[in-house]
Amino acid sequence: METGYDAIVVGGGAIGCAIAWRLALTSRRVVIFERGEVGREATYAAGGMLAPLSEADEDDDFLHLCRASLALYPRFASELATASGIDIEYRREGTLYLSLNSDDDEELDHRFAWQRSAGIDVARLTPEQTLALEPSLNPALRFALSFPDDHQVNNRRLIEALRLASVAAGVTIKAGSPVSRLLIEPIAGVPTITGVITNRGTTRSPLVIIAAGCWSSLLFETSGISPSPWRIGPVRGQMVSIRTPADRLRRVIYSRRGYLVPRLDGTIIAGSTTEHAGYDCLITPRGMATIIGNAGEMMPSFGDYPLAGTWAGLRPHTADSLPIIGPDPRIRGLLHATAHYRNGILLTPLTAELIVSLVDRGRTSLDLAPFSPGRFAVPQAAG
Ligand code: GLY
Repeated sequence: METGYDAIVVGGGAIGCAIAWRLALTSRRVVIFERGEVGREATYAAGGMLAPLSEADEDDDFLHLCRASLALYPRFASELATASGIDIEYRREGTLYLSLNSDDDEELDHRFAWQRSAGIDVARLTPEQTLALEPSLNPALRFALSFPDDHQVNNRRLIEALRLASVAAGVTIKAGSPVSRLLIEPIAGVPTITGVITNRGTTRSPLVIIAAGCWSSLLFETSGISPSPWRIGPVRGQMVSIRTPADRLRRVIYSRRGYLVPRLDGTIIAGSTTEHAGYDCLITPRGMATIIGNAGEMMPSFGDYPLAGTWAGLRPHTADSLPIIGPDPRIRGLLHATAHYRNGILLTPLTAELIVSLVDRGRTSLDLAPFSPGRFAVPQAAG
């Protein structure tokens, strides 16, 4: 049995590593248990868009959460660079959202109107203005919305930076170590977390944070916390990348059917599918055809460049599509930081800050009620 840790983080993706890093900076002894390799699941598969406005159709709590996290990115990127020596390629060129048919017109006109009236910096560009910015785009585009406040980051550099920063801050990372059970004991009559069981045995800690993406709620079943108040399911996203000369594209490009993310070395990543296909990370001909078709609609030359890669990842999704951040309503010492669905990379800095604030002060400056684990009704046990 291992003891002496102030906190156990279950899951070594961007969220788990960021939490561990930040907690270690408060002089806590932290261990991460990762079932596979650090950052090789949803974090690795992502596109790295930090783009809350491009897809927002209302001014709601989730948009506020996303914008608050985006606002942390400049400092987060610079602190990570200092701690790890890695530039995570945080870029502020903005994003362009293309209208390519009359249905697109309607949705984008609505988005433009409400964001404009809410005082958000959004512009409606003519095809000429759009093509002047990005000459590789489809000349048949009808108009584009420009979101200068939406940014991007290189998610694979991000996770490497987080891993190195965590280790430098003293975090112990145990990869290839799936947590099979949470240890819960009654202490003074209250169910309380006391550690976890992995393939390495028992590790004790009074604080456990679950950041295990689409594997998070499976832990309830193996730990006797049943029935589970929520289920986090996997939603597969397939991706394709091509190699182009550098600067063929500078901004992230969206349509209602897909997106293109340019990296500084000329790689362009195209996504994605949204598939309920279980815990199966297959890449399928249908998925590839869909992504490549949608990419070609935005950038007609997309299909002419050499393929650089194909991959798939599993987004962690729960019933209301919102993240689950905060203390477990039933078990003392257990915190959740999971179900970030399409916005895990964007929400990484804020989620880490919120968890550290909960651990340090038992509260956060931001109202977490819409994202709290307590929003789910606890189902009655059968029988
Ligand atoms: N964040 C983009 C996606 O989930 O496809």
